[in-house]
Amino acid sequence: LAKVEVDLKTIAEGKSICVKWRGKPLFVRHRTGDEIETEKGVDVESLRHKEHDDERVKRPEWLILIGVCTHLGCVPIAHAGEYGGYFCPCHGSHYDTSGRIRKGPAPENLEVPEYTFSDDTTVVVG
Ligand code: FES
Repeated sequence: LAKVEVDLKTIAEGKSICVKWRGKPLFVRHRTGDEIETEKGVDVESLRHKEHDDERVKRPEWLILIGVCTHLGCVPIAHAGEYGGYFCPCHGSHYDTSGRIRKGPAPENLEVPEYTFSDDTTVVVG
């Protein structure tokens, strides 16, 4: 399917789901207030791939990512790693709760796909 619709009502705060989209894992995460605050406060200059959290989310509570490590393409584990975001077990890349690379060999942040909110509780990716 070119597009996938995700019902956000089923994802509690602090939880994530993974759905398949164009043959790839798509991560949808309902961020907590603490996670949002932490990521908004990160100094962009300290990052390997310099993106502010505001460039990576349309609504702060929803983080939507392609779940493919930018190193060699493994699928990272959510809610893991030193920054509490994602951990790629293949060679040890740590991503934060904005999906930004913070430690390990991956060169870039996890990719944010094109998406829109079709209403308050539905996101359409693709
Ligand atoms: Fe993720 Fe190498 S593929 S760290």
